[in-house]
Amino acid sequence: MRRALIAANWKMFLNRESGTQLAMALAKKTADVEDRDILICPAAPLLSDVSAAIQGSRIQLGGQNMYFEKEGAFTGEVSADMLLSVGCTHVLLGHSERRHVFGEDDTLINKKVLFALESGLKPVLCVGELLEEREAGNTEKVVHRQVVKGLENVDALAQITIAYEPVWAIGTGKTATPEDAETVQAYIRKTVADIYSTDIADNLRILYGGSVKPDNIGGLMAKGNVDGALVGGASLKADSFYDIIRFT
Ligand code: PGA
Repeated sequence: MRRALIAANWKMFLNRESGTQLAMALAKKTADVEDRDILICPAAPLLSDVSAAIQGSRIQLGGQNMYFEKEGAFTGEVSADMLLSVGCTHVLLGHSERRHVFGEDDTLINKKVLFALESGLKPVLCVGELLEEREAGNTEKVVHRQVVKGLENVDALAQITIAYEPVWAIGTGKTATPEDAETVQAYIRKTVADIYSTDIADNLRILYGGSVKPDNIGGLMAKGNVDGALVGGASLKADSFYDIIRFT
């Protein structure tokens, strides 16, 4: 019912040359992948070249962040219009590194979600608990707050994807077990059903992210509430990302 989405978050890795090469290799390798969606999110300076490299392929392009104003004196920020103008369809918002390294809070992330939607970009809203929050038994409470506040005043979810990324699993090699991911992702879907409707929740794609690799993607995707993956480290090599895309 829900089409799988495998997304790459290149973070602050690669440059114009290596990013373009990787994009070209992926475009070629995925030419026959018809039954799932593929998204790559390079750093902003790479977007134009990567966009050209994936032209005519099945791969979609996303930004890693965006500011919530149309334009203005916001040194260092990237606007929705800029992302759209280089061919982005999506934008990652509220990634754990934005929250925990750069101090973004739910209010700011919600403004970005609303502005992205208004501009015609599809937000991938990232949520997830810290290790101490999990150990204190607060995973559901944290994720509930991030989902509810992140989606405040959003009336339709058709353009939204949620990525559940437990912070303790990101870049650490410690993946959540498929059961852990399923429990939290089922809870996220229930939260969305409570605010919106069961129908809307049933159509929402919820990705898992955090040390996804070719050898653990199959177990994660076998779970009913895992509709895809947001992949960092393993998306930086064409072979490993392709193996994740082709999880079955
Ligand atoms: P990772 O990153 O796959 O390297 O853990 C995932 C992410 O941060 O989106």
